[in-house]
Amino acid sequence: MLIDQLKKIVGSKGWTTDPAELESYVTEWRGQVRGATPIVVAPADTGEVAAIVRLCAAQDVAIVPQGGNTGMCAGAVPDDSGNQVVLSLSRMNCIRNVDAVNFSMEVEAGCILEKIQKAAKKFDRYFALSLGAEGSCQIGGNLATNAGGVNVLRYGTARAQVLGLEVVLADGTIIDSLRSLRKDTAGYDLKQLFIGSEGTLGIITAATLKLFPDPGEMSTALLALRSSGDAVRLLAHLQSALPNGIEAFELVSDFVFGLVKKHIPNSTMPFSESAPWYVLLETATGGEPEILENILASAVDAVLIIDAVIAKNSSEAARLWRLRHSISEAERAEGASLKHDISVPISAMEEFLRRGDELITRLAPNGQLVAFGHVGDGNLHYNVILPTEMNDGAQLTDAIYALATELGGSFSAEHGIGQTKRDYLTRYRSQAEVELMRTLKRAIDPGNILNPGKVI
Ligand code: FAD
Ligand code: MLT
Ligand code: ZN
Repeated sequence: MLIDQLKKIVGSKGWTTDPAELESYVTEWRGQVRGATPIVVAPADTGEVAAIVRLCAAQDVAIVPQGGNTGMCAGAVPDDSGNQVVLSLSRMNCIRNVDAVNFSMEVEAGCILEKIQKAAKKFDRYFALSLGAEGSCQIGGNLATNAGGVNVLRYGTARAQVLGLEVVLADGTIIDSLRSLRKDTAGYDLKQLFIGSEGTLGIITAATLKLFPDPGEMSTALLALRSSGDAVRLLAHLQSALPNGIEAFELVSDFVFGLVKKHIPNSTMPFSESAPWYVLLETATGGEPEILENILASAVDAVLIIDAVIAKNSSEAARLWRLRHSISEAERAEGASLKHDISVPISAMEEFLRRGDELITRLAPNGQLVAFGHVGDGNLHYNVILPTEMNDGAQLTDAIYALATELGGSFSAEHGIGQTKRDYLTRYRSQAEVELMRTLKRAIDPGNILNPGKVI
């Protein structure tokens, strides 16, 4: 019996079938998609992962790899058949080594992102991936979704932070490509296949990550703006004033910060007057705030910002970041919203915002725009709370995705596809691209046991 054999592989600490405990594993973060599973297994090491895969492959049983289950496309939860096994990487959470001289570190997939950041800091190094879920998402999930976050502008997405991977394939084969080299052109770059594949091509069990010198003191400021268009112009202004010095540039509408003040305790804005838009800016100015003060003064002169508050110390900076990173929770507390994680070339951002607003006015007249995100990378969370009289936003979602695509953008910037965006993949990617993805999936997981029903 499969369940007994699985229990034998992982031992008494490595499984649960308790319905109360299963609940958090079968429900995605927003609570909108719920599946079922007979067992969650949590292997202790790569060998156990391989043994689980071999067993499930032999009995044609699907496996759903799961990290922190913070994904936004229900990619980590099983379907409702009750026949899929959830494989949690949570117990594989050891930091294997930090090689400060080589600016690299080797970690297991179940390491929580925040733990990795802190471990690097102890060696005076910087692990550059940072996102609001960093307290619970795991590096395996970050790599499987090619997560973005707030530092992409300067360091790139999760994909850019990886030197090597260890992966278990659909037949239990262990691929050890954990080399910590910045240069290695020996054949195909296999790790790139698995990064962003959302558990459908292989189970990531460990990674060798790229580290940077610690950028030292940051200067953090919250800026008040008249329009979202000014944010695009401000970005260009700041980039020429501080080339390669902008760590993060997060745009947030006043309505969105209003949701944070409404739902998140102890959330206060540092301005006495409200403004239509805000930018949370983080710059690597070595803790010399006067550099930032002068640059922001020039932005006021250029009529790009109305006002600015520069954090005087790290706790003031943390308070500003808490406002930003609480948005998803506040949006969830406010109720269901249509989430559109789109990206467009930055030069098209203003047109997207203008025409997107027209779409909302036409297709969801009393809808409320929830707009925020990583404008520095052309990525906006352009979400809409539908008016009560509207319970279907499909037409609006399609129009927003079509607009982003028309402007040369993507309908999924950083959250991936999971199960909630599969149909859009076939609609907004060419047939040739989708066919090639299917060929890869058939070649690498011919039995379709790795996270079936996700992505492709
Ligand atoms: P899970 O949700 O557990 O899994 C995600 C996908 O990866 C699933 O398909 C799963 O099957 C697969 N998977 C998980 N682990 C493995 C593994 N070891 N091997 C193979 N496949 C695996 N995302 C961003 O990109 N940028 C943001 O700024 C951002 N901010 C967020 C803020 C909040 C408050 C929340 C709740 C989410 C946010 N997210 C963001 C979404 C989410 O945190 C990311 O997608 C994250 O990378 C998911 O990590 P996880 O460990 O929770 O993965
Ligand atoms: C964020 O930038 O906060 C996330 O991507 C989460 C979200 O879109 O809710
Ligand atoms: Zn985001």
